[in-house]
Amino acid sequence: MMTENGWPHLNPLMRASVLLAAVLSAFAQTAAPVINPGGIVDAASYGPVLAPGSIAAIFGSFPVGSPAEAASLPLPTSLSQVSVRAGAGGAAPLFYVSSSQINVQIPWELAGQSQAGMTVMASGQTSAPQTVALASFAPAIFSVNGQGAIQDSSFRLIDASNPATAGSTAILIYCMGLGPISNQPASGAAALTSPLSETTNTPAVTVGGVPAQVTFSGLVPGLVGVYQVNAVTPANAPMGDVPVVISIGGATSSSVNMYVQAPDTDQSAGALLAQMTLDEKLQLVHGAYTFGGPAGPLNAEEWVPGISRLGIPDLLYADGPVGVYSSLGPATALPSSMANAASWDLDEAYKYGAIIGAEVRAYGMNVWLGGNVNLGGREPRDGRTFEAAGEDPLLAGSIKAAHIRGVQDQHLIGTLKHYGLNDQETGRLLANAIIDERGARESDLLAFEVALKNSNAQSVMCSYNLVNGDYACQNDSLLNGALKGDWGFSGFVQSDAFAAQSSVASALAGLDQEQPGGYYFGGVWGESLDTAIQNGDMPQSRLDDMVRRILRAIYAAGLFNYPSAVGTIDTDAGAATAQEILEQGAVLLKNGGNLLPLDASKVGSIAVIGAHADVGVLSGGGSAQVAPTGGAALTLAPECPSSAVGTSALACHNASEIYDPSSPLKAIQAMAPSASVQFNDGTDSAAAAALAQSSNGAVVFVSQWESEGMDLDDLNFSNNQDALVSAVAAANPRTIVVMENGGPQLAPWLGQVGALLEAWYPGERGGEAIANILFGSVNPSGKLPITFPASVNDLPRPVIPSPSSASSTTPFAVSYSEGFNVGYKWYDTNGIEPLFPFGFGLSYTTFAFSNVSLTSSGEQFQVSFDLANTGAVAGAEVAQVYVGLPASTGEPPRRLAAWTKVLLQPGEKQSETLTVSSNDVSHPLSYWDVNSESWQVASGDYTVYVGNSSANDSLTVAGMFHIGQ
Ligand code: BGC
Repeated sequence: MMTENGWPHLNPLMRASVLLAAVLSAFAQTAAPVINPGGIVDAASYGPVLAPGSIAAIFGSFPVGSPAEAASLPLPTSLSQVSVRAGAGGAAPLFYVSSSQINVQIPWELAGQSQAGMTVMASGQTSAPQTVALASFAPAIFSVNGQGAIQDSSFRLIDASNPATAGSTAILIYCMGLGPISNQPASGAAALTSPLSETTNTPAVTVGGVPAQVTFSGLVPGLVGVYQVNAVTPANAPMGDVPVVISIGGATSSSVNMYVQAPDTDQSAGALLAQMTLDEKLQLVHGAYTFGGPAGPLNAEEWVPGISRLGIPDLLYADGPVGVYSSLGPATALPSSMANAASWDLDEAYKYGAIIGAEVRAYGMNVWLGGNVNLGGREPRDGRTFEAAGEDPLLAGSIKAAHIRGVQDQHLIGTLKHYGLNDQETGRLLANAIIDERGARESDLLAFEVALKNSNAQSVMCSYNLVNGDYACQNDSLLNGALKGDWGFSGFVQSDAFAAQSSVASALAGLDQEQPGGYYFGGVWGESLDTAIQNGDMPQSRLDDMVRRILRAIYAAGLFNYPSAVGTIDTDAGAATAQEILEQGAVLLKNGGNLLPLDASKVGSIAVIGAHADVGVLSGGGSAQVAPTGGAALTLAPECPSSAVGTSALACHNASEIYDPSSPLKAIQAMAPSASVQFNDGTDSAAAAALAQSSNGAVVFVSQWESEGMDLDDLNFSNNQDALVSAVAAANPRTIVVMENGGPQLAPWLGQVGALLEAWYPGERGGEAIANILFGSVNPSGKLPITFPASVNDLPRPVIPSPSSASSTTPFAVSYSEGFNVGYKWYDTNGIEPLFPFGFGLSYTTFAFSNVSLTSSGEQFQVSFDLANTGAVAGAEVAQVYVGLPASTGEPPRRLAAWTKVLLQPGEKQSETLTVSSNDVSHPLSYWDVNSESWQVASGDYTVYVGNSSANDSLTVAGMFHIGQ
C-alpha cells in the first residue's frame, strides 16, 4: 500500500467495490441502448441523488460485445465505443462498460446544476435521456460485506475481528459526494497527491450517534471520485456494531455499520499514571475534607480534587442506598432497598439503581456510595437493615449488583459497602467480628462476591468494624486476600468516613483511598504516605497501584467521557418508579378469610388508624435519609433506642424521623369514594378501638424508625403500637395491619388480626401503592428477603454484644459462631420455626407447581416444572429453587440456588426450567475449603427443592443427584 503525505491510496478491496462487478454478456448487442427507469444511482449508496465528481452506476441494456474497464487515468470518455453524456457536463469519464452496467464519473463541470439529462451512446445509437438529481453534496459511504468500508490507520478493515477502540482508533472512511474540493482535478483525472485535494467544507461524522473529531477530508490520492474522511473513534461512542454517518452541507449519507470496542482501561490508566507527579498521585488517594473546612464542590459531602492539567475530574461523592442523601437537596424517596429486594425482580432492581444514578448525576456527583450489601439477617435488629437487601448472599448480591449496574450505566462510579461483616451498629467502631474463614466466605463475603462479579462495581467501601482482630480497612485477608486476590477486583477500596486507623498498615493491607480527609495518608495523625515512601516503609509501587486503581475506575465508569453536569430531577419518573417498586415489593403476610382485597363498593366504613397515615409514610434515617421531593410530610424528633449510647446517642438526637408526603388515608379514600373513611391517630388505644368498632373494618398502620449508628432494642413496634393493634383487633376482627419498618418485626397480635401487609419504608408514593394493594388494583407478589423470627430469643445472639461502657475505646468481640448459618440457614439448622420464613409472601390468587423434574450432568442440574395460576385473578409467583449439599459437608439443610418470578393470568400454566451450575458466581454447589483456600464440590448426594418459600412445607423435592464417587 502506497501512501502520500500519510494518506493512503485506495486499496484493492476498495477498488473492487468502486469498480462494480457486472454480469458478463457473451453476445453482441445491436439494439439501441436503453437506460432502465431509475437506473442511474450513486455507486456507493445506490441512492438516486448524485454530486459532481462522484461515481454513478448506470443500469440498462447496452450493445456492448464484452465488458471493458478503463486501464489508465485520466479516464477515457469512450470505452468499447460507448460514451455517456451528462447534460451540460458533456462526455462523462468512464470506468467500466458492459451490456448491463456502465460506471461513470459525474463531471465536475456540472457543479451548481440541480439535475442532468444522461444519455448513453453505443454503436452509433443514443438512448432516451434519463434525468438524475444533482446536489452540491450527496455523501455516501461505501460498504464491504455489509459493513462500512472503514479502515484503521494500518489499512485493516474494521470489523468484528478488528474493532475500533473508543477514544483512540483513527478511522479512514471511504465515501463519495462530499462536494467541492480544493485543487480540483479535471473530470476523469486522478485526485491530486501533492498538495492533497481537500474538501472545502469539513464534513461531520457520527459514530453510534456520537460526534467524532474529523482530522482530514478530501479525495483519495491517485483515484477518481472517491473521498476519504479520517476521524477518531469518539471516546463515548457506544460499543458494538454501531452506525456511522457523514453529513455535509445539510446532506446526510447512508448509514453503514462499524464495530467499536471499549478501551482497555488498564492501559489508559497506566498511560495517565506515567504522566503524574508524586504530589498528584498523593492527591488522589484521600479526600479533601478538613474539620471546619468548606464543603466540596456542589456541596459534595466527600470529594477528591481532580487534576485539571491531565483532565482528571474532581471525584464528588453522594450517599445513599435508597435515593440521593438529603444533604444535597430533595430527591425521589424510593421505598427502602429491602422493599426492592422483596420484589425478587432484577429488572425492578435495575430501575431502582437507574433512578438513583440519574439523580446523583443531576446533582453533579460522580461517585455513588449506596451499595449496602451487608447481610441483615445476621442481626435483624441492625439499624441499617432497610438499606440492604436481606439475608441471602445470592439474592442480596444479585439485587445490589442490579442497583450498581443501574447507577454505573449513568456513568458514575458505584460503591459496594460496608466490607465486611458490618452487621450491627452497636459499637460499630469497636465491634470485632470473630468468624471462621469458611463461615465468612459462605455468608457476608459471598454477598459481596456475587454483587461484585455481577456488576463490575468500581469501588468497595471498607467498614468501621474489626474482623478477626484487624480493622476492616487494614485487613489484609479481606482486602488483598479475598477482594483483590481471589475475586480479581480491579477498582479501588475507599474507607468509610473516618474508618481508616493507620496509614502504611492500611495501604499495605489494601486500602486505596482514605475518606473523608487525609488524616492518616496525609500525615495529620501519623506517618504520611509521602514520608513512608521516602523512609522505605512503603514501596512507591504500592502508591502507583492505589492511583492506577482509582484511574481505572474513572475510565471504566466513563467519567472522562461523560463529565459531571448538573441537571434536573425527573420527579414524575421518580414518583412512578417509587410506586412501582413498592407495588412489586410489598409482602402480604396474612389474609385470613380472604379479607383482602377490599371491595370499594361494599366496605361502607373504614377506620384508618395510627402511624401518621393521615399525612405520610415513614422513611429510614442516617446517611440513607432522603429529603423527599415535595418536602417532608412530617418531621419528628426520633425515639432513640436505649442502645444508642455515646456517639450513637448524639447521632440519634440530632436526627429526625421523616415522613414522606404520601397519605395512605387520602389514597384509601380515593379508592373508596363512597365509603366513610375516618382517621384516628392511635395515641389513645381506646378511642382507636371505638372507631374500629363503629366501622366495618379497620386499617391500622404501625411504624418503626431505624437509622444508621444505632440498633433496635428489640423487634417489637415501639411506643405501645402492639397494644394499639391488639385493642383495635379486639374491637373489630376485620382489622388489617400495614407495617412500615426496615426489617423483621414481631407480631404478637398476629392471631387477632385479619390481614397483615409488610410495606417496608414505603417511599414517596407509598400511600397510593398500599391503597392499590388493599383494594386489589395491584396483586401483591413480594416475598420476604429476610426471615422474621418468632422471638429475639431465637436469634444467634439474643442480646446484641456491646462495648464495656459508652466511653470505651477497646474493641469488643462479637462472636459469629453461627458462621455461614445466617437467616433461614440458622433456623433450618436448629429446627427453629420462624414467624415468617425467608421467601414467603401471599397473593390474591393461588398457584400450583406440577410436573417437577430434575436432570443433572456432572456439577450441573436442571430443574423443570409447570407453574399454574389456579385462582381467579392475574398474579406473579416467585418459584424458588433450593439445594441441599451432602450431609458430610456440614452445610445447612438448604441454600437458595435460583429463582424466577412468573406473571400468570387466571388459569394460565407455564413451563419453567432453571439451570444451576457449580460455576455460577454464588458457588451454589460448593463449600469453602480452608485447606486449599478454594471452593470445592463435595462428593455425595445433592437434594433439589422447588417451591414458594424456604419453609419445608412449601417445598417439593424435585429430586436428588450424585456428584463424585
Ligand atoms: C456511613 C456510610 C456513608 C458514609 C459517608 C458513614 O457514616 O457508614 O454508609 O457512606 O458515612 O457518608
